[in-house]
Amino acid sequence: IRAAVIGGGANGEHDVSLASAAAVTAALDPGAYEIIGLTIGRDGAWRDAAGAPLGLASAVERLQTCDVALPIVHGPRGEDGTLAALLELAGVPYVGSGLRPGALAMDKWVTKLIAQDLGIAVAPGRLLTARTVAGYAWSGPVVVKPVAAGSSLGVALVRRPGDLAGAMAEALRHDDRILIEQVIEGREIDIAVLRNRDEVVASPTLEIVTDGFFDYAAKYGGEATKFLIPAPIEPAVTGRIERAATALYEALGCRGVARFDFFVTAAGPVLNEVNTMPGFTAHSQVPRMFAAAGMPYPRLLDTLIGIACG
Ligand code: DAL
Ligand code: MG
Repeated sequence: IRAAVIGGGANGEHDVSLASAAAVTAALDPGAYEIIGLTIGRDGAWRDAAGAPLGLASAVERLQTCDVALPIVHGPRGEDGTLAALLELAGVPYVGSGLRPGALAMDKWVTKLIAQDLGIAVAPGRLLTARTVAGYAWSGPVVVKPVAAGSSLGVALVRRPGDLAGAMAEALRHDDRILIEQVIEGREIDIAVLRNRDEVVASPTLEIVTDGFFDYAAKYGGEATKFLIPAPIEPAVTGRIERAATALYEALGCRGVARFDFFVTAAGPVLNEVNTMPGFTAHSQVPRMFAAAGMPYPRLLDTLIGIACG
């Protein structure tokens, strides 16, 4: 099978996507796959595995020589449906969600509206733009975040009114729309959902145990973060998380694997966000969760490729 693995991307998660794509490439069985590596630069320009620049048309032509593409690009202009749309138009089968789920899940405000409609609790939040931020009145600690970004880029927990304007300006550097959310105090629990033919399966839950805020540094720099699989939570809470994630997966129309991140509070699970192209290194949550369920990383990739080509 000739498989294109696309990494990088024109957003702040560029390096994270390179790491995910490198891990995917390393995990694919060289006896079964001929791998065509492609990278999207921070500037949006495509390059081949040797680093030679490719125009978009040449990149598409190269993709069209492949049996399947793995667009391992997190964040805007990747995970948000743009790459899925390109591959769709080029007629290349690809791993993961299509345009609509990618675009909907990348938009944290729309995700909230859809989740609420399904009866899933979310952090109450307000949508602001550069034009409306000045009208926001402080009423206590908040989380400020760009509507569309990933890996916690541009996200800040603001406890003092004096820090609010700076946090809003920083979030606005990542997106022209931002969310101001009520702070949710709870344990961080992730779950993944995968549909294979007619069967929709949820992974075991995973608890992220970290000192403080699971920000970019904690996600990729530190040793201080631990994952517990399955998360040591009550079976009834696990059941609620499984049902919420599965309902959202289907409502968004996801394909392949998606990861759903929750906070578990005293009142139950609260959805934080959805990732249609979640972190994919061998140490990332999704490969770890499926490995714990008896599906090692290479087999998870084979399964995703099988779904894409099926
Ligand atoms: N956005 C990062 C890659 C994640 O969700 O894992
Ligand atoms: Mg994310």
